[in-house]
Amino acid sequence: MKILVTGGVGYIGSHTVVELQQKGYEVIIVDNLSNSNIGVLDAIAEITDIKPAFEEFDLVDKNLTEDFFKRHSDIKGIIHFAAYKAVGESVAEPLMYYRNNLYSLVNILQGMKDNNIENLVFSSSCTVYGQPEELPVTENAPVQKAESPYGNTKQISEEVILDTVKSTDIKGIALRYFNPIGAHESAIIGELPLGIPNNLMPFITQTAIGIREQLSVFGDDYNTPDGTAIRDYIHVVDLAKAHVIAVERMVNKKMKKSFEYFNLGTGNGYSVLEVIKSFERVTEQKLNYKIVGRRAGDVEQVWADTNFANDELGWKAEQSLDKMTLSAWKWEQKLASNK
Ligand code: UD1
Repeated sequence: MKILVTGGVGYIGSHTVVELQQKGYEVIIVDNLSNSNIGVLDAIAEITDIKPAFEEFDLVDKNLTEDFFKRHSDIKGIIHFAAYKAVGESVAEPLMYYRNNLYSLVNILQGMKDNNIENLVFSSSCTVYGQPEELPVTENAPVQKAESPYGNTKQISEEVILDTVKSTDIKGIALRYFNPIGAHESAIIGELPLGIPNNLMPFITQTAIGIREQLSVFGDDYNTPDGTAIRDYIHVVDLAKAHVIAVERMVNKKMKKSFEYFNLGTGNGYSVLEVIKSFERVTEQKLNYKIVGRRAGDVEQVWADTNFANDELGWKAEQSLDKMTLSAWKWEQKLASNK
């Protein structure tokens, strides 16, 4: 069964392609390589013995996307990862974010409609909840006004899909990720941030390996036990597996509504200092960090209520925080040894 994975060369995309191929799906990747490295295709082949089909083009281009779908109308499902994802950059360049993240989605939905492709899994984010009033946060919590154009593209995208499923045979599953970290256990694929990382985990590993001098911990005056912000970190392979299950749910017609939303987290919240302590414990080294002021736009604490995803998808995140931080470290070491 042929599945299109947009952004399949990227961090979460590549881990998902591995899981799909290991379950026997035929994968075709579309990626414009704007934030990813073509070498990842060989890395996927090294893990799975299969090099996925690949086309390099920009899904923002309506004509190229239309042509692609005409040639691949036998696709049974789409997992749409391809998007920009840096919060700060989206504040500086909002139009770039709206153009890239929204035009591509519209072009994909049009291609689905024109070619009778029914199943779309969409990469969404817990950012849609803002700072929730109740924790853990369920899928029924209100979507709050987005803090950034990036977050807004996720909210608008969910609405675009919702409106589309109402008037077509298309069905959608939005997966709202909490904080994906870690790397494949083989250390053959992992996160490859270009430039200075925005996210915590790659900043930690790059500091430990000596690429960055010091990690800044953004704020220790939050209303949390140790004062640092709390997130629900989830291993990227656990996350990838949920995508395969979502695809199976769609193609096997197990959906209960034509558009469903699921939280993908572990259900456990950890503070920034707890992540650092885990990293120091598993790698047996001290991390150079200092406490600085809060980062604009950060929420204080958020973690997932995973009951709905656990019950409906029959999926549960399995890997502990220590396993996540260790796998991230092994990946960073592998990158260093390749240089
Ligand atoms: C945010 C969004 C998430 C989005 C992601 C994209 C929320 C709740 N989450 O994740 O949906 O997909 O951006 O990038 O809005 N930190 C440091 N020092 C650093 C980096 C991070 O202390 O150098 C702290 C942050 O302040 C935060 C935690 O680490 O408390 C996690 O930060 P990060 O990895 O950037 O993810 P979020 O901001 O939670």
